[in-house]
Amino acid sequence: MTTTSVLFPIMITFIFLFTTNFLLTVTASQPVSFPSLTIHTTTVSSNDTAIAVMPTLSAYYFVEARIGLPRFRVKLALSTSTPTTWVQSADCVVCLDVPSKSMNFDPADGFEPVLGDDSKYCVPPVAKTATLGDPCRYVLGFSQGILGNDTFSLVSPPSTSSPPPSLEINHFIFGVGKQNMVNFGAHSPIVGQLGLGKGHPSSTLSQLNISRFSYCLPPSNSNHQNTTATLEFGPKAGLTTAYYYNTPIVEGPPDNPFDYYINLIEIAINNASVYTPSKQRERGEPGFVIDVGATVTLLYKEAYIRVKDAVMEYLSSNFGLYPVYPSRPVSKPPIYELCYYNQDLESITTLTYPNISFHFEGGAVLQLPESQAFHNFVDELQTCLVMIPRTGTEPSRLGASQQRGWRFTYDILQSELSFAPNGC
Ligand SMILES: *[C@@H]1O[C@H](CO)[C@@H](O)[C@H](O)[C@H]1NC(C)=O
Ligand SMILES: *[C@@H]1O[C@H](CO)[C@@H](O)[C@H](O)[C@H]1NC(C)=O
Ligand SMILES: *[C@@H]1O[C@H](CO)[C@@H](O)[C@H](O)[C@H]1NC(C)=O
Ligand SMILES: *[C@@H]1O[C@H](CO)[C@@H](O)[C@H](O)[C@H]1NC(C)=O
Ligand SMILES: *[C@@H]1O[C@H](CO)[C@@H](O)[C@H](O)[C@H]1NC(C)=O
Ligand SMILES: *[C@@H]1O[C@H](CO)[C@@H](O)[C@H](O)[C@H]1NC(C)=O
Repeated sequence: MTTTSVLFPIMITFIFLFTTNFLLTVTASQPVSFPSLTIHTTTVSSNDTAIAVMPTLSAYYFVEARIGLPRFRVKLALSTSTPTTWVQSADCVVCLDVPSKSMNFDPADGFEPVLGDDSKYCVPPVAKTATLGDPCRYVLGFSQGILGNDTFSLVSPPSTSSPPPSLEINHFIFGVGKQNMVNFGAHSPIVGQLGLGKGHPSSTLSQLNISRFSYCLPPSNSNHQNTTATLEFGPKAGLTTAYYYNTPIVEGPPDNPFDYYINLIEIAINNASVYTPSKQRERGEPGFVIDVGATVTLLYKEAYIRVKDAVMEYLSSNFGLYPVYPSRPVSKPPIYELCYYNQDLESITTLTYPNISFHFEGGAVLQLPESQAFHNFVDELQTCLVMIPRTGTEPSRLGASQQRGWRFTYDILQSELSFAPNGC
């Protein structure tokens, strides 16, 4: 179990902001089918498409990109719920809390705004119609600004022998964010998002004609230099891994076209089923999404309650352990509902945490190692189940903290998600 106590509280702000903004913007959107447009002005000038993935302390995962000439370096968080890549503008009005303003993107000569009457890219649900001659405005979950194009490249892992960017794209269309309402953690170096969501002509995947991508998230305390964690694009992405599991990527609701929905069959604790969504669907079960940009897993309230009750039952009947009441960590904002005093846990030498597994259509099973379901908040002297219940119609989200160590490959043409442990 990792013991960074600053880790999780930081992420929560993001999740709330995310939810709010997401609801505001995406519910008004139109369904978009995929695969869709390809962009012929784009050229990918390398065969090697492995890009280094690195963690921040607050468990966001990012890649390093270079924009424009001269190359301007930016760190962009991976997002599978956002289709379009965006970066914070130097003249932002609502800004991310970055350590230095010089990290914001200041468009240079090579940058060309997409025009508001561009019928290919400046289209809903990402872009808003603009007055003729004005730059195209976009509105994504957390960011609003203008769309433009410039040279864009993604940086290969430091371990590879040839340092030049592994993927260079001419005329790459991305957002320059003026209002950015998301918290990647205090003084986080992240200045935008690399969109990996599906659906819109301005999406990274559509522009690059990418129908398959793959990533592995390293542990957030890993040594950056030594990780082989990569994001891979193209027909060969993730092929070096022997896959254990495959599950179909299914169509989400029309008002949520960018996310990757998969069919959750059940959640089990120590191999005993505690939650089966199919029985809940008529009662508003909102579906299940894999989301690399959510830092922790958010579970539909009904599912969360079953998991929490089963974990409590296991720890009390096997070890006589009872949770902290009120069952919230002392940290701010108080968010995890099920916590135990470290002192109590440490007094039991034979303690084993329960195994939590997510079972998906097609027999795919994601079993969480203990360290990915429970977190030791050393400052608060408590260990908590790091999942969050959510109400409303937003889907459950399998967050980055519960994806670490596995390799996930998204095949959009085949509509299939594959995953395997030890994938970094
Ligand atoms: C891609 O690979 C082919 C064959 O291996 C090679 O001829 C070509 O130069 C490579 N292209 C780039 C941009 O590296
Ligand atoms: C991208 O920029 C180039 C100039 O660098 C311009 O000719 C082209 O029209 C732009 N593409 C779009 C879609 O705006
Ligand atoms: C896009 O990708 C598909 C399959 O990967 C390929 O058949 C098609 O030719 C590509 N289109 C362009 C314009 O590169
Ligand atoms: C990276 O890993 C190798 C072998 O696992 C180890 O020998 C080396 O010291 C590590 N480097 C750093 C900077 O930790
Ligand atoms: C749980 O199920 C898996 C797969 O069927 C099996 O390998 C494992 O032994 C089971 N574990 C327990 C504790 O029953
Ligand atoms: C959890 O799974 C591991 C590995 O499959 C197994 O060794 C362990 O006994 C399981 N724990 C419980 C409480 O079933």
